Amino acid sequence: MVPPKANEDFLIAEAHAKINLHLEVLGIRSDGFHELAMVMQSINLSDQLKMTKSVNNKIILHSNNNEISNGDDNLIIKAANLLRNKVGNTELGVYIELEKNIPIGAGLAGGSTDAAATLVGLNKLWRLNLEIEELEKLSKEIGSDIPFCVSGGRQICFGRGEILEKIKIERLDLGLILVKDPSIQVSTPVAYKKYKEEYGHTYLKDDRDFEIRRNILRSNNWSDQSLLDTRTEIQNDLQKTVCPMAPEVKKSLKILSRIPGSRLVSMSGSGPSCFALFKNYDDAKKMLKKHVNDFERAGLSAWACSMKSNGVQLGNEFT
Ligand code: C5P
Repeated sequence: MVPPKANEDFLIAEAHAKINLHLEVLGIRSDGFHELAMVMQSINLSDQLKMTKSVNNKIILHSNNNEISNGDDNLIIKAANLLRNKVGNTELGVYIELEKNIPIGAGLAGGSTDAAATLVGLNKLWRLNLEIEELEKLSKEIGSDIPFCVSGGRQICFGRGEILEKIKIERLDLGLILVKDPSIQVSTPVAYKKYKEEYGHTYLKDDRDFEIRRNILRSNNWSDQSLLDTRTEIQNDLQKTVCPMAPEVKKSLKILSRIPGSRLVSMSGSGPSCFALFKNYDDAKKMLKKHVNDFERAGLSAWACSMKSNGVQLGNEFT
C-alpha cells in the first residue's frame, strides 16, 4: 500500500497535562518568584493543536473554548511570537486550531503545555531545526512550567520550576483519577501570594539550605513501586493555603480517598484539581466507572488517566 502523502504544511501537536507528585516551596528569590523543589509527571489528558502554515505573516488562534482569549495574552500566541523573534523572521505565519480538553485554572499546566506544543510544533512546521534543549531554554521566558511540558515524563524541577532533572524510570504503570470542580478556578499568583503571607516566615534563606532539600529530593526513589509501597502522603505545600480558600479541594480529597484502591491523594500544583493514584490505569478506569455517580453528585468532573513518559507529541496524521 502506498502511504498517504504527507502535507508538510500541516501538523497536529498533542499537549499533555501534568500533575505534581511533590511540590515544596523552599523560599523566595530576588526576582520575586518562589524557589521550588518539585516532581512533575505528564499524564494522558491532553489538548490538541492543529497547525497550518500560512503564507501571510499572521499568527491566528481559534479554539473550541470561548473562555480562552485568542489574543496576544494567550500563551500560544506568546510562544509563536517568541519563536519568530528568536529566528528573526517575522514573515512566518500560522493558523492554530486549539481543541481544549484540559480544564483551565486547574493546576494542570494547561496553558503552559499548549505553549510547549506551539514551540515544538512550529519548530517543525517552520523548519527551524532548533534543538529541544534550545526550545526549553527559550520557553522559560514566558512561563516557569513550560520547559517541563516540552519534554515531560517524570522529572525533578528546581528553581522557578524550569531547572529540570529527568528521572530514569523503566515503566510508568500508575493510573490516576483526576477530579475538578468546574465551577472554580485558582489563580496561581494568588495562591503563591497567599502562601507567602502565611508561611513566608518559614522560608529558607540560604542557597546551602536549598541544596540540602534538593539533595533529599534527588535521593528519594521516585519509581511507581516506591511511591505505592513507601509513601504515606504526597507533599504539596500550596494545598495548606488553597484548601481553606477553596472548600472544593477538601471535598475532592475526601471523595478520592474513599475510593477503594486509591493509594495517595493530593492536590495538583496550585489546584483546585486533585488526584488519587492507583496501581495501574485499568484499576483507575474501573473505579471511575463504578463511582461515577459519587463524583457527579459532588459536582466534580472526573477523568481516569495514565502516566506519559513524554511531553509534547507530534502527530503523524498528516492530511
Ligand atoms: O511562571 P508562571 O507565569 O507560570 O507563574 C505564574 C505566577 O505564579 C508568577 O507570576 C508568580 O506569581 C507565581 N510563581 C511563583 N514562583 C514560581 C512560579 C510561579 O511565585 N516558582
